[in-house]
Amino acid sequence: MSILIKNGRIITASDDYLADVFIEGEIISAIGKDLSQKADQVIDANGKLVMPGGIDPHVHLDMPFMGTYSSDNYETGTRAALFGGTTTVIDFVLQTQGKSLQSALQEWKSRSDNNAVGDYSFHMAVTDFNEETKKEIRHFIENEGITSFKTFMAYKGALMIDDKQMIGLMQEVKKYGGLINVHATNGDMIDFLIAKHRSEGKLAPIYHYLSQPEVTEAEASGRFADMANYTGCPGYIVHLTCEGALNAVRNATTRNQHIFVETCIQYLILDASLYEQNFEGAKWVMSPPLREKKDQATLWAGINQGLVNVVATDHCPFKWEQKLMGKDDFSKIPNGHPAIENRMELLFSEGVNTGKITLNKYVEVASTNAAKIFGMFPKKGTIAVGSDADILIMDPNEMHTLSAGTHHMNVDYSGYEGWEVKGKVKTVLLRGKVVIDNNECKVSKGYGQFVKRNKVGSNI
Ligand code: URP
Ligand code: ZN
Ligand code: ZN
Repeated sequence: MSILIKNGRIITASDDYLADVFIEGEIISAIGKDLSQKADQVIDANGKLVMPGGIDPHVHLDMPFMGTYSSDNYETGTRAALFGGTTTVIDFVLQTQGKSLQSALQEWKSRSDNNAVGDYSFHMAVTDFNEETKKEIRHFIENEGITSFKTFMAYKGALMIDDKQMIGLMQEVKKYGGLINVHATNGDMIDFLIAKHRSEGKLAPIYHYLSQPEVTEAEASGRFADMANYTGCPGYIVHLTCEGALNAVRNATTRNQHIFVETCIQYLILDASLYEQNFEGAKWVMSPPLREKKDQATLWAGINQGLVNVVATDHCPFKWEQKLMGKDDFSKIPNGHPAIENRMELLFSEGVNTGKITLNKYVEVASTNAAKIFGMFPKKGTIAVGSDADILIMDPNEMHTLSAGTHHMNVDYSGYEGWEVKGKVKTVLLRGKVVIDNNECKVSKGYGQFVKRNKVGSNI
């Protein structure tokens, strides 16, 4: 099967030009002006942007968490991602404390195998680093194609590891060419504040926000940077939200350290005032919580300063009935919000169309940097001869409105209900196949493949 995309404006992290793209099988085989190859299918991209498919390196599909499961499984989650222009996601396999990494991987595979519509990969979340876990690290990097290891500095008793475990893990991961991702918030401080608010009868969603002040994130981000600097292990802070935390990363650059930073779309465009409405605020109960307007400004600036490298989602949807588990106690509200389908369009509309970021920067933070940091480049994350034909064709001017009534995520509300967006995903290709066209998904579960990743170390 061959496809010729004609007359599009091709945008990569570094280029912007008018050309045709010729695809044979799963791969881009030629790019140029007025290509004359005969193709089985021709797509007219006149007036449209032709960009690499989005990569969302932070999603939680079918994840057991806080007494329930995130409501998108591999089928619904990766399909919704495709509708939104994201062709590859990276999910987190969670080790159960007391059990092996391998047993967690088997459990995750039982949910993901043959169920994904779009491509996916895994980070391995180490929640119990001990002599047995230590022996497994090399195998994951060298044989499983899982080269990034997630750690939690919060969620004590379930996911959190202490600093002794963190340093031991960093040394092992560095030895074999991997990377540590971290949820960097001070779990003990947060647990103290949660207990304090509960004992005072302060149980509404806003107390979730007030239990995780900026200092809890700034402190942990700085501590993580120090440990990464000490061990020499590459580090990546997930879902960074605020000025204090970004300044900890900025400080680390003064000793020539490079910490990779991810923020998420919600932290760029939503703020903590949403917690001021009674239980409705539960829709945005996530960790870390939404912050202030000044933090949004810091994050947009951080993107342009090259300090914030990736815009992800931390997609972790729960239906309203699941959120109601915490109706009498904010600490029981399952943490997370749905965004896997909305990220590319919201970032385009709020970032590019408002002039906050350039088109090249958009591609860089929504796709290319994640591919580079996580060992998938240039297979994924760019439009180049030899790369997978993962392509998003977008109409930059079409207006539309986000709503739970029209989205494809398996959740009965939207964190962005009624949001007017300029820029619409029109056609999406994944490995040379049209997977989305005219609001219709053309492939079924099983089309999505697991992406084995290389060792990290590609500079961005
Ligand atoms: O609220 C969140 N972020 N839920 C998912 C788990 C995590 O911390 O990433
Ligand atoms: Zn987290
Ligand atoms: Zn997460």
